[in-house]
Amino acid sequence: MRCGTYRGGVTWFYDPRATYEDNLAHGPFGAFAADAGADADAGPSPAVAPAEELPTLSFLGRPVCRPFGIPAGPLVNAAFCEAAFAHAFDIAVYKTVRTGAHPSHPFPNCLAVRTAGPLDPGRLDTLVADSALDAARSISNSFGVPSRDPDAWQPDMARAVAAAGAGQVLVGSFQGTRGPGGEDAYVADHVHAAALCVEAGAPVLEMNLSCPNEGTGALLCFDTRLVARIAGAVKEEVGDVPLVLKLAHFPTDEALDALLRATSPLVDGYAAINTVPARLVTDEGRPALPGRGREVAGVCGEAIAPAALAMVRRLAAWRADAGAGFAIVGVGGVMDTAGVAAHVAAGADAVMSATGAMIDPLLGRRVAAVSWPR
Ligand SMILES: Cc1cc2nc3c(=O)[nH]c(=O)nc-3n(C[C@H](O)[C@H](O)[C@H](O)COP(=O)(O)O)c2cc1C
Repeated sequence: MRCGTYRGGVTWFYDPRATYEDNLAHGPFGAFAADAGADADAGPSPAVAPAEELPTLSFLGRPVCRPFGIPAGPLVNAAFCEAAFAHAFDIAVYKTVRTGAHPSHPFPNCLAVRTAGPLDPGRLDTLVADSALDAARSISNSFGVPSRDPDAWQPDMARAVAAAGAGQVLVGSFQGTRGPGGEDAYVADHVHAAALCVEAGAPVLEMNLSCPNEGTGALLCFDTRLVARIAGAVKEEVGDVPLVLKLAHFPTDEALDALLRATSPLVDGYAAINTVPARLVTDEGRPALPGRGREVAGVCGEAIAPAALAMVRRLAAWRADAGAGFAIVGVGGVMDTAGVAAHVAAGADAVMSATGAMIDPLLGRRVAAVSWPR
């Protein structure tokens, strides 16, 4: 099994130059690999707090050493989650699961995206994307939310839950799948997916409402009526298990206000943002990703940091105005400890990094080596 090396020799723990199936079967790689002791390329490990450190912070009522982790996506199975916990990412989100097996979009899924600066989420940019990942700071994310069958992922998620040490939390991410049964069946599928995660032992749930690949034309998170219906049904099923809604960047304050009014009495938190869409093309202007419906794909990493921070600020301002108590998980463009501090200053209670952690697998240790920002 070949896996690519980047940045002067450091290997990403999720290898974007291998297929999703290869990552699932053979990962994690690089500093996260089982034989990572041999990966001298990862460089010196930043000082990390001692193992006997007592968790003094909390995330949705669970004690955590630091409310920092890796969001839904790069941690595709328990082996990845175990490695994330071992590298001081104290919140690990198990990649979004479904109630039935679902294939991944064809390879490639993550390309390096060339940006001239931060992306404006109010505009659909056309950007060149290619396989020059060595110096990438922003990447595409076009997987179509693949899932194994629950018979395969449930025992694996249980193993990931068990891997959390003191002061660490595994989050189970899930979403519903549209089928021929109409809205009632779609709601029921979300409830079933949540129940399967709880059965696997997930102590916190995240419902992905921001998948750009569901073929619905518009993201579920923008359909306030349906989200409220689904969130109510899921919460009724899972009871006290905290439920976080994963959101995209909202275009208007009115739309965000409507969603928060309808759902904040039901749920425990919001994670924002998912990716910012862009039209991805080759140097010659052809679609960069193969297959129909993939001309526009989500971009994540450094270029979406301002959009993510803006959403966190809007959520925090709404929460303060309403006197609400929900948690805010800041996600998007966090590449270093300064990015973590920026999210906390914007109002995030927990912070996560997908692209940044993939590029720098020691980011958890770097965050652990400084005091948590306040
Ligand atoms: C490889 C990869 C796979 C992802 N898969 C999912 C997913 O299954 N569910 C989800 O809610 N978000 C998924 N995401 C989005 C991330 O959770 C996150 O919202 C986004 O990447 C922005 O964070 P970043 O800038 O730190 O990468 C994925 C991201 C990446 C990079």
